[in-house]
Amino acid sequence: MASVQHNGRDTPHGTDGSADGGTATASGAAARRDLAVRAAVAQGLISEAEPVVALLDVAGIRSSAAALRTAFDEVTAPGTAVLHAFAVKAAPLVAVVRLLGEEGIGAEVASPGELALARAAGVRPEHTVLDSPAKTTAELREALALGIAVNADNPQELARIDALIGSGTGPGPGTGPGPGPGTGSGPAPDTAASPLGLRINAQVGGGSIGALSTATATSKFGIALRDEGARAWVVQAYLDRPWLTRLHTHSGSQGVPLERMAEGVRTVYELAEEINAAAGRRQIDTLDIGGGLPVNFTSDEETPTYAEYARLLRETVPGLLDGRYGLVTEFGRSLLARHGTVLARVEYAKSAGGRPIAVTHAGAQVATRTVYDPDSWPLRIAAYDAGGRPRTGPAVAQDIAGPACFAGDLLAENRPVPLLEQGDLVAALDTGAYYFSNHYAYNSLARPGVFGFMTAPGAAGGGVRFATVRAAQTVAEIVTESGGGYADALLLDD
Ligand SMILES: Cc1ncc(COP(=O)(O)O)c(C=O)c1O
Repeated sequence: MASVQHNGRDTPHGTDGSADGGTATASGAAARRDLAVRAAVAQGLISEAEPVVALLDVAGIRSSAAALRTAFDEVTAPGTAVLHAFAVKAAPLVAVVRLLGEEGIGAEVASPGELALARAAGVRPEHTVLDSPAKTTAELREALALGIAVNADNPQELARIDALIGSGTGPGPGTGPGPGPGTGSGPAPDTAASPLGLRINAQVGGGSIGALSTATATSKFGIALRDEGARAWVVQAYLDRPWLTRLHTHSGSQGVPLERMAEGVRTVYELAEEINAAAGRRQIDTLDIGGGLPVNFTSDEETPTYAEYARLLRETVPGLLDGRYGLVTEFGRSLLARHGTVLARVEYAKSAGGRPIAVTHAGAQVATRTVYDPDSWPLRIAAYDAGGRPRTGPAVAQDIAGPACFAGDLLAENRPVPLLEQGDLVAALDTGAYYFSNHYAYNSLARPGVFGFMTAPGAAGGGVRFATVRAAQTVAEIVTESGGGYADALLLDD
């Protein structure tokens, strides 16, 4: 399936068939998860030797991809070119990016590693978008040579692109002296190959999680549109560069209200209209509206939905969807979060100060944000017995601790769940995005294996088939990554 869809109203529906992807699918996802946990025990995926694993629900991922496509198909004019580019940072796993590619989703990348990973997954350059606030000249040169879309973050970066493609104007407001034409120039690539744009900070304000709010007055991302002189500078930058054909904004991720995200999109749409009017032609042909749909981490209900956001965009920015502009989206968390589960053994069950504590193998290494900022990132915890059956019994407030050597390494504090015993399993739910795929190497804890699961109730293997997405890191690999090959490197004084 092509990643760029032209809305002909014929996009196939996914496994769940619901554009809203809401409560109709929730019980199915929970049932699949329970089956997978049971099978992970039965098939030896989780064991004393592998006490923590990560599971990905393939049907769930496909259904979210389908919900995304359908939601935008329903609000865009027939014939509108839409590229949904998965924000690879949310789950930098090659097989995940390839699965999404098969579902018609491209890739938004923000580092050389993410670009390499998207290429390894087979994502085509025309379905790839490069954003990031600190692109080097070499990265830009590679992107232009490949024909990948680039959203320049700031005037200095635009000056580098000028130099690379052989035109040239000076840097813009607030940047100080920037690199002039010719700086960092290499062989001039074909400018037509890469769609190029500028990232705009609409400065519409933040959300409930400051660290993820990218549209604050002082955010490090993009060109701060309301700063003095910035708007006029942007308009002129486009008039000076006929090859600048896109505008990009991403107002933030989890915690930013949908209305604020839509307001950010409206701001860049109005800017595009102004630029096109000044140019006297439709110079800007595509708007990249970023990602950011928040995820409900408190229950199995999927809300808000892509369909709700798409309808809000239609109400707030109707001109965006009337067919005059192509569209790029960059959703990450909302495509993957709900489809991932970290499953870990309870190594010990103890108590301190009257508080039961389950010491497990899942902590900061797989749930970094939750451990360091539990108020912003609470996770649901499900309890299973040693056989992988859901644990029942009265809920008892207890700590679900991780294996790392600091007191704050807790997946959940004082959380009521059925009392856990040694050998039981805990599942940290909704961890498919920005959790186990974004490992934190504290205590040299190994990256867990990641396994996709497909369920077929009644079939062999407990009705579940697992596929390795990423093998567990070995201790030998940890030694190598920790400089094992350079053990004598500091003994240079003799
Ligand atoms: C430019 C850009 N696009 C898209 C995303 C994805 O956001 P989310 O995972 O909230 O959809 C991010 C996240 O940081 C981003 O910085």
